[in-house]
Amino acid sequence: MPVPLFDLSRLGPQVDEAVREATLRVLGHRGYVLGAEVENFEKDLTDYLGGGHAIGMSSGTDAQLALLMALGIGEGDAVISTPYTFFATTGCIHRTGAEILFCDIDQATFMMAPGSLRALLASMKRDGDGMLRSAKGNRVRLIVPIHLFGTCCDMDAINEIAAEFGVEVLEDAAQILGAEYPSKHGVKKAGLIAPTSYVSFYPSKNLGAAGDAGVALCLDAEMAEKLKRIRNHGMEQRYYHKVVGGNFRIDAIQAAVLRAKLPFLDSWNATRRANAASYREAFSAAGLLDQITLPAEPFASSGLKNHHIYHQYVIRVLGDKKRDAVMAYLSEQKIGCAIYYPVPLHLQECFAYLGHKPGDFPESERAALQSLALPIFPGLTQDEIAEVVRGIKSALG
Ligand SMILES: Cc1ncc(COP(=O)(O)O)c(C=O)c1O
Repeated sequence: MPVPLFDLSRLGPQVDEAVREATLRVLGHRGYVLGAEVENFEKDLTDYLGGGHAIGMSSGTDAQLALLMALGIGEGDAVISTPYTFFATTGCIHRTGAEILFCDIDQATFMMAPGSLRALLASMKRDGDGMLRSAKGNRVRLIVPIHLFGTCCDMDAINEIAAEFGVEVLEDAAQILGAEYPSKHGVKKAGLIAPTSYVSFYPSKNLGAAGDAGVALCLDAEMAEKLKRIRNHGMEQRYYHKVVGGNFRIDAIQAAVLRAKLPFLDSWNATRRANAASYREAFSAAGLLDQITLPAEPFASSGLKNHHIYHQYVIRVLGDKKRDAVMAYLSEQKIGCAIYYPVPLHLQECFAYLGHKPGDFPESERAALQSLALPIFPGLTQDEIAEVVRGIKSALG
């Protein structure tokens, strides 16, 4: 039985109808750029998150670029992130002219390892004004931890290390709208744990637009005003440019579609989590847990419902080259699967100038060789989950 990796049509007629209605409304009033549709979505989103400021952007990537511009990151600065992730985060750092610094990921969670972060920062020297300097002499300004696949990074540890070394934190919350984090200081929604953050609404995200869209999030009202200017060519008053920004505006149609879909998000996230529980049971019953590793749930004991929202269900297939054999078999059976991400960023051709080599970030490299994403979308059936597990059992012999 074929199983798709992802199928948007399974969100159901109620969602289709809400999206159609929202789209037709915008086509009817023809207010395509900014205006009430965007403001209403931003308001609903901050209500959903329970605080902060939301500034709708044309994509998650543009939201991050706008944030880096607002923070004044550029030449002479250095920004730390991880090499096992989607390209956008590091691509934006490069585009500002700042130096890219990598630290490795945690083996269990695929995300920034606080130990590697601390080791990297501790290896640097402070100059006369107390600012931490990279080996190339750039000011270490920012850490960008990336919440991958649906649960949060170890943000308490990362925030503490950042504070100790005097470096700011910007969360990449692109994949994780709706997840909650049991911080030492109380429960926080992902995206509002650090002072600045952003989310992607790429169509396959848990809350997906009908095209590209994103949002920048921040805790500070002044930063929100800055971001609004930056997304609109640095203007407040039309044709008077306070700063150089860009055209990073979210389309009104996308804002309307996202606003129509937002009320469904929590139920979709619950379905994704239920699917993950079914996989756990099925993989265990199939006796496969010595050959694969299931996704970690580092905050399961917190009792928070949304400690994991399973944007992706990523297993590790243990053993040399076994992942590629499993993938080939599943593809032959028309069972959807994907590798997120096959080449760690420090080994990408466009970053050859950084001078990294294989072996520099071993956990990121191992993750790229072992990880395999399986279908987890809302609407996936129990029979399909059983079929995926059967397929993996057959592939592993
Ligand atoms: C971790 C991560 N960061 C950044 C992005 C960029 O978002 P977008 O595709 O909306 O530009 C994505 C989205 O795909 C992502 O998964």
